Amino acid sequence: MSDVMQACKFSSIEVPNRFALAPMTRTSAEADGTPNALMADHYEAYARGGFGLVITEGTYTDDKASQGYANQPGIINNAHISGWETIVNRVHEAGSKIFIQLMHAGAQFQANHYTDQPLGPSTVSPKGAPLGLYGDQEAWQTPSAMTESDIEVAVDGFARAAENAKAAGFDGIEIHGANGYLLNQFLSTHFNKREDRYGGTLENRLRFVVEVVRAVREAVGDSYPVGIRLSQATVTDPDYQLPEGEAGFRKIVEAVRDAGADFVHTTDGDVSRQNFVDGDQSLADVAASVEGLELILNGGIDETNHQDVANQFPGALLAVGKKALANPDFVQRLKDGKEIDDLDFAMLQPKATITNELAWREQNAA
Ligand SMILES: Cc1cc2nc3c(=O)[nH]c(=O)nc-3n(C[C@H](O)[C@H](O)[C@H](O)COP(=O)(O)O)c2cc1C
Repeated sequence: MSDVMQACKFSSIEVPNRFALAPMTRTSAEADGTPNALMADHYEAYARGGFGLVITEGTYTDDKASQGYANQPGIINNAHISGWETIVNRVHEAGSKIFIQLMHAGAQFQANHYTDQPLGPSTVSPKGAPLGLYGDQEAWQTPSAMTESDIEVAVDGFARAAENAKAAGFDGIEIHGANGYLLNQFLSTHFNKREDRYGGTLENRLRFVVEVVRAVREAVGDSYPVGIRLSQATVTDPDYQLPEGEAGFRKIVEAVRDAGADFVHTTDGDVSRQNFVDGDQSLADVAASVEGLELILNGGIDETNHQDVANQFPGALLAVGKKALANPDFVQRLKDGKEIDDLDFAMLQPKATITNELAWREQNAA
């Protein structure tokens, strides 16, 4: 039996318990991507509410095409660093650790402060419609296929963003390799139709991901926590499956480890969903079977199942999304045996901004 409330070592740091706030985009930064006081209050609330590790929302990495949403935060200049520094300090003062999630939107591009033209592995748009939660675009734009020079710029953006994150005082870096954003697009046979060394075989589709992980590791040095979030599902295609199945996913996990990642964060609709084209394992099962990596697990973890997941995956951190939105003090409530609320999606309407959340909370105050 493993005690989820016990402090534990994770990579080179110590976290006060095994609960992590899952990364959640709130499109509440200034128009130029600078994190603000509203965001500082927001993130501090999760630390005060008991989450041992806070993972930030997806944060853009360059002034080219990495931003995907209006009012998404960035980490590319001194104003961004200083805005994040305030947030990091507030989370630390509350006793928790904080990782930044670095994200390049690629073809999942709804708004960008610097360019109107999305980039992707190929000229392929995401399935379905853009997300109303993050903006009011009606249709996806067709991305331009990235040239080798675009790829180099994007890789370098991740490395510079990682240096900036370290300078802002973050305790570690999570690279967003999940949910249909750029790294995930390179892995995906829906998005990646390239015929060069970045497309085709899984080894080629992995090349960009490996280059990003390696560049981030080189930028921050050896003992700093670096990991990557991985999924098969994308935000508009929750049932996408890698044609290479379980063995393919294992290959991805091993490749990111070998490139310098020290943790992998798996995410799926449900942490135990068996959604490979073959076999009967979950993403978490496969990731746990690879040696030499720490784990963060996500997908439907709540007050009813967290202990089972913790027992099944000793040492893994448990990332909580929707239940955390509904209960920023989720961990404290568990400790106190208090009732846990379900998320009312009205809280995130018409967009997932913190301002809309606050208005909803005021309206629904008992
Ligand atoms: C409003 C909202 C914003 C999200 N933004 C991100 C994000 O920026 N990066 C990311 O990797 N996942 C994002 N997610 C996905 C969550 O991190 C999590 O994977 C998902 O909610 C499933 O976990 P849960 O069942 O605990 O909610 C977001 C989810 C929600 C509800």
